[in-house]
Amino acid sequence: MANRAPIKAASMGERPTAGGSGRRLTRRGLLSGGALAAAATVTGAVAVTGSAATDGAAAGASPAAPSPAAPAASPDAGAVVPFHGPHQAGVATPPQAHAVFVGFDLRKGVGREALARMMRLLTDDARRLTQGRPALADTEPELAALPARLSVTFGFGPGLFDAAGVGEHRPESVAALPAFTIDRLRREWSGGDLLVQICADDPLTVTHALRMIVKDARAFAEVRWTQRGFRRAAHSQPGGTTQRNVMGQLDGTVNLVAGTPDFDRAVWIEEGRLRGGTTLVLRRIRAEMETWDATDTTAKEFTVGRRLSDGAPLTGGREHDEPDFDRLTPVGFPVISEYAHIRRAHVPDPGLRMLRRVYNYDEGVAADGTADCGLLFAAFQADIARQFIPVQRRLAEADLLNEWTTPIGSAVFAIPPGCGPDGWIGETLLG
Ligand code: HEM
Repeated sequence: MANRAPIKAASMGERPTAGGSGRRLTRRGLLSGGALAAAATVTGAVAVTGSAATDGAAAGASPAAPSPAAPAASPDAGAVVPFHGPHQAGVATPPQAHAVFVGFDLRKGVGREALARMMRLLTDDARRLTQGRPALADTEPELAALPARLSVTFGFGPGLFDAAGVGEHRPESVAALPAFTIDRLRREWSGGDLLVQICADDPLTVTHALRMIVKDARAFAEVRWTQRGFRRAAHSQPGGTTQRNVMGQLDGTVNLVAGTPDFDRAVWIEEGRLRGGTTLVLRRIRAEMETWDATDTTAKEFTVGRRLSDGAPLTGGREHDEPDFDRLTPVGFPVISEYAHIRRAHVPDPGLRMLRRVYNYDEGVAADGTADCGLLFAAFQADIARQFIPVQRRLAEADLLNEWTTPIGSAVFAIPPGCGPDGWIGETLLG
C-alpha cells in the first residue's frame, strides 16, 4: 500500500468556587450525621442484595410502581451488578452497552471532611441505584426500578488528593500524563478532581443515575465535563463477541480477561491505602471518519495489522490466533508492518497489560457533514507509569493509526477499592 504513515506533528494540552448548596438540608444533615441506617428506615427503603428488582417492589415508596398486571419486563431489565466487594464494580464487570463518564472540579474550600461526607452520600446513591432502589430523595423513583446491570464507579483525580491533604497516598503516576506529540487536548475534555463512571445496558438508567449523582455532588463539586459512550446493544450478539468500534474494527481481541491471575496482577493495586483499587486513564480520541472512509480495506487492515472482516491477524488464522510478528512477505517486508497498531501496542507480559474498557462516542454530524465521533478509551491498570505510558509513547512515536485518530481529551484517576455494606467508597483514604 501507499505509505499512509505521516506521523502527526507535535502539540499538547490540560477549580471553581463555592456557592449556594441548593441541597436538602434535612437529608444532608441525616447523612453527615452518619445516620444512613436511620435514613433508610425513615424513607421506607427496602434492602435488596444481589437480586433483581424487576417488579417495582424494591422501589419502596415509589408511587408509580407497576401494578402486578403490568407486562413482564425482560429478565435482564432487572439484572443487578453487586455493589459491595473488595473492588469497585465497573472495572472487571463485562462492559455494559451504555456509559457516561462525568468529571467534576471540587468547589473551593472542600476538604477532607466534606469529601468524606460527599462520598458517603454518593456511595449511598450508588448502592441503592445499582440494586434497583431509588436514591434517597429520588426525584424520579420509578426510573430506579430497572437497574439493567448498572454500575457506578468513583475515581479520584490528583486535585482531590491535594484538597483532602492526603497527597502522600496518591500513586505517583496519578498525575497529568506526559505530553504526547499526537495530542490536541482540549480543556473541556480533560482533567478533573472526581470521576464518576456510570454504565448500564439501558441508556435511561444511565441518565437517571447521572442526574442523582450530579444532584448530590453539587454542594461539593461542579461538573467539568460529561462524556457519553456506547457499545453494541446488550444481547445483539452472542456473549464473548468482540465489539466493533466506530471505525468498523473488532476492538478488544487482545485484552485482559476478568477472573484470571493476569487480570488481577495487571489491574489491582496490591498495597497501601488504595489496595484493591486501580487507576484509570480516560482518553477521548476523535476518529477522522472522512479520510478513514476514503481509505481502502487493504490500507485499513495494514494500519492495524488485522483483518477487518474477522479481526484475524494479517499473518492468517482466526481472531484469537497469535500474530506472527516475524513473518515476512515474499519480497522481505514484515507482513505486520513495523508501524502497525497491534505491533506498536503489543505488550508481551500479560501482567503488564492494561484493561481496555473502551466505548464509542458519537456527538452527531456538523453542518458540513463532518462526523464528531471516536473512542472513549478507558484503560485500567495498577500502575499508569509501567503500563499505559510506555504503550502510549510507542504509539505516539509511530503508529499508522495516528493518521486517522486524534486524542482530544485526557484525564487520570485513582479508583479506590470497593467497600462493604457498612462502608463507603474512599473510606481508606478519607476516613
Ligand atoms: C481511536 C483510537 C484507537 C483505535 C481505533 C484502536 C483500535 C485497536 C484495534 C482495532 C486493535 C486490534 C484488536 C484488539 O486486539 O483489540 C487494537 C489493539 C490494541 N490497542 Fe488500540 N486503538 C486505539 C487506541 C489505543 C490506545 C490509545 C492504546 C494505548 C495507549 C491502545 C492500545 C491497544 C493495545 C494494548 C492493543 C492490543 C495489542 C496486542 O497486543 O495485540 N489502543 N486497538
